[in-house]
Amino acid sequence: MRRRDMLLASAALPATAASLGQSGTGGPVKNTVISSANGLAACKRAHEILEAGGDTLEAVVSGVTLVEDDPEDSSVGYGGLPNEEGVVELDASVMHGPSRRCGAVGAVHNIKNVARLAKLVMEQTGHVLLVGDGATRFARTWGIPEINLLTEKSRLAWVAWKQSQRDSSGHTNWTNWLDMPDDAPRKQAQNSLRRQFPEASDELLAWAFSVAKYPPTGTINCLAVNEKGEMSGTTTTSGLAWKIPGRVGDSPIIGAGLFVDQEIGAAGSTGLGEENIRICGGHTVVENMRHGMSPKDACLDAMKRIARNYNGDLKKLSRFDINFYALRKDGVFAGASLWSGRMSHGYMSAPKFAVNQGGESRLEECAYLLERKV
Ligand code: GLY
Repeated sequence: MRRRDMLLASAALPATAASLGQSGTGGPVKNTVISSANGLAACKRAHEILEAGGDTLEAVVSGVTLVEDDPEDSSVGYGGLPNEEGVVELDASVMHGPSRRCGAVGAVHNIKNVARLAKLVMEQTGHVLLVGDGATRFARTWGIPEINLLTEKSRLAWVAWKQSQRDSSGHTNWTNWLDMPDDAPRKQAQNSLRRQFPEASDELLAWAFSVAKYPPTGTINCLAVNEKGEMSGTTTTSGLAWKIPGRVGDSPIIGAGLFVDQEIGAAGSTGLGEENIRICGGHTVVENMRHGMSPKDACLDAMKRIARNYNGDLKKLSRFDINFYALRKDGVFAGASLWSGRMSHGYMSAPKFAVNQGGESRLEECAYLLERKV
């Protein structure tokens, strides 16, 4: 079944398998780190720092730095998918529970480790949020090196996206047109990309066409609690692929992509940031926990607010996905997704989140609001 058909066939049931999405004993608090599914290594690094007695914010920032440094994660940091002009533009936020401080940066160019930059905003300024050129100049003040964040892999995907933008007659300035041999347009684009990227495998080209067609919104959110019950969190991202320059998503918005209240717990989000901003998701999840909801129910309630913004219109809801992660001060945690399954490179998979409570990180299944039927 083609992806579009599969989406339109999605079913309507608010279904949450009771066993899915929430873990933790609620007993004595263990050092615990959770994150989006791309954070297995990040959670492990963060947990090691907690075990060594390090601060919870230093732990999560050090954890996500691994993901920001990784050129293979095309949703975060170096190698992130760029804006419509081919410039990688990063957003990040941090919150430190014990001191109740926070910092954030938005639409930053040329700085790889923006979670750490957000921590610097928190530590070295009286401000909360710096954006654009001001954020880059702030980084320069502190001697942070500037680099081109666009890898060849991300540039390939960007060119594939440019070639996919066609007028109503199918014309694009980015491939041959009237002078091209008779052939399928996709094949033409693929051939012209192959000439420019001779090293690219068929698999890489297929990935480039896939992200050109379905702009992804990956991100990493990472939350930690230590044995003393101290909490922190961070969210870092390259945001929505092919965005208009200057678009800022939910990740650097305190109360949307991240919220930590030392008395209650922490929450964060990945997925289509605009939908989260509309409901102040991070804050909503923490407030739900304050009023007695479990982390899982708190996330699902936030998800219901997103669904309600579209009056439950499944056709519209099927066009995006969003995830919440929640970690309560007593160590109980949950992950939740809008949909029970997500498409990735032509395959449907159950949404998961990463957890580390010592040793290797593991993936746990997210709870979900809506069941996607193939
Ligand atoms: N949640 C990441 C973004 O939308 O930018």
